[in-house]
Amino acid sequence: MIRMSLENGVQTLRLDRPEKKNALTGAMYTDLAEALERGNGDDAVRCHLICGQPEIFTAGNDIGDFLQYAGKSGVSETPVVRFLRALVNNQKPLVASVDGIAIGVGTTLLMHCDMVFASPRALIRSPFVDLGLVPEAGSSLLGPQLMGHARAFELLCLGKAFSAERAMQAGFVNEIIEEGVDEAAMACASEIAQKPPEALALSRRLLRGDTRALSERVEEEIKIFASRLSAPETIAAFQAFMAKKAKN
Ligand code: COA
Repeated sequence: MIRMSLENGVQTLRLDRPEKKNALTGAMYTDLAEALERGNGDDAVRCHLICGQPEIFTAGNDIGDFLQYAGKSGVSETPVVRFLRALVNNQKPLVASVDGIAIGVGTTLLMHCDMVFASPRALIRSPFVDLGLVPEAGSSLLGPQLMGHARAFELLCLGKAFSAERAMQAGFVNEIIEEGVDEAAMACASEIAQKPPEALALSRRLLRGDTRALSERVEEEIKIFASRLSAPETIAAFQAFMAKKAKN
């Protein structure tokens, strides 16, 4: 589930499914998407803060859900897709606190954040290709822009894990916090929430620039990703994960 609260202009979205390493289900994506969409039109929401649990930000998309989508049409209208679109269209600053493993969409959503705080135990990894999939959430565009092709290839195609330090060097973590990463992220979100909102919104829009290319890329990725869900190598990778789980 997603635990939500709104305090002093900061809407906190806490991923809360620790027993499944915060793997994201359709219901969780829907909650996240709705919160971002609602925030766009709500003056009381000045900033979003997304965070997870100690040692786990998220293990990415729920792999059981992926298996259900395989071979089905209409994947482009699923909760995950709604969430990806909401990320691109989000008008309010987004801060993240990463205190552990961030896999798949847990990595790619960070590329949409305005500020990312990580603890030293953060480990950021996107095994898309190993699962027979392709990068999503616009990361095939944002990744190379942020860190250059070579590092983006390592992260998004080779599935190499980036430590907090490496992610900071790559440009998508602002600060590593030894103790109290959630508190540091909250302090930053509160600071953002105190800024003159119109000037901040205008400035953020200027920094982000024209997002049409990003939207187009997200849609292109969705099409390819959806078709890959039925690819034999993808189904084999998901089944291997589920079989390992059944054995343990
Ligand atoms: N989807 C569904 N369930 C998941 C999951 C996911 N993405 N990630 C973890 N889980 C579940 C496990 O199946 C297990 O469930 P169980 O207790 O019912 O067997 C539980 O969460 C704990 O996970 P486990 O693998 O035992 O913990 P771990 O500490 O050994 O490893 C991870 C943690 C995150 C490294 C490992 O679970 C993993 O690699 N998950 C898959 C990540 C992934 O490929 N995501 C998709 C990206 S596109």
